[in-house]
Amino acid sequence: MKSEKTVEELQATHSIPGVAEVVIGNGGLPKVVTQISACSGEIYLHGAHVTSWEPADSEETIFVSKESHWEDGRAIRGGIPICFPWFRNKADNPKAPQHGFARITSWTLNSITAGSDEVKVELSTASNADSRVWWPEDFKLTYRATFGKTLGLELEMHNTGSSSLRFEEALHTYHRIGNIGNIRIGGLDGATYLDNTDSNKSCYQQGEIEFTSQVDRAYLGTDHSIQLLDPPMGRRVTVVKTNSLTTVVWNPWKEGAHSMSDMADDEWIQMACIEASNIRDFAIELQPGQQHTMRATIFVEKL
Ligand code: BG6
Repeated sequence: MKSEKTVEELQATHSIPGVAEVVIGNGGLPKVVTQISACSGEIYLHGAHVTSWEPADSEETIFVSKESHWEDGRAIRGGIPICFPWFRNKADNPKAPQHGFARITSWTLNSITAGSDEVKVELSTASNADSRVWWPEDFKLTYRATFGKTLGLELEMHNTGSSSLRFEEALHTYHRIGNIGNIRIGGLDGATYLDNTDSNKSCYQQGEIEFTSQVDRAYLGTDHSIQLLDPPMGRRVTVVKTNSLTTVVWNPWKEGAHSMSDMADDEWIQMACIEASNIRDFAIELQPGQQHTMRATIFVEKL
């Protein structure tokens, strides 16, 4: 579903001259771009999808594929897709879109607000005829992306219906990295994970994660911060999670990337996904009227 307002109308209502603008992005899709002294950043209304965050003293932190589709009904490859209300396949419907419908929905731009050296963009979406095709529940989802020295992501889910519901969620962040063979991910030592490359066998993480083949893991009961150590880029990226009890780590490796039409053959080397999430047994249950907010805050330090 396309955004109901034109880019010109959104720009007239929400832009903050010299700070944040609403412009036409790839594929004609509207996006908010911000340029302040702390950073530059951008977020598409399609999927409420962050596609860039470049802090002033660092290079671009977010990977986006040059082969990505940019069209209604298809997910952007890279950036920060929002997976909701299920993760991977929908158990009871193989035809349902992988990772849910939030990332292929056009969200409503609610507001752009400027704080002291940061810009907050708020978008929302709610249950409607399109969502009910796949999921019967009544809900409202609000997303706040705050661009500054840190990148703040906040996904707020509200059960607006009259019965309890259960959902999964993930902020599927594609980190832009120097080289997959030379990075390490810390903060998950001692955690149990389900290995999706091996029928979700339960495994135990010892030490840091290093990448030597395809990785597709859901780390369980992990609410602590995760560090992405990237010596080739000379930086450490930290992801601080709140109300997120699972962490997915994914890199498709050569074979996986080659099977994707929307990723160039060598791009798997330049990306690693760390996903603040609540999936599988950690799915969230909400009673009527209840809300749940998951947050991820990302910051970069020089090594
Ligand atoms: C990861 C999943 O989060 O996303 C993987 O753990 C999946 O299993 C990957 O392959 C990419 O999914 P998609 O739908 O964007 O190709």
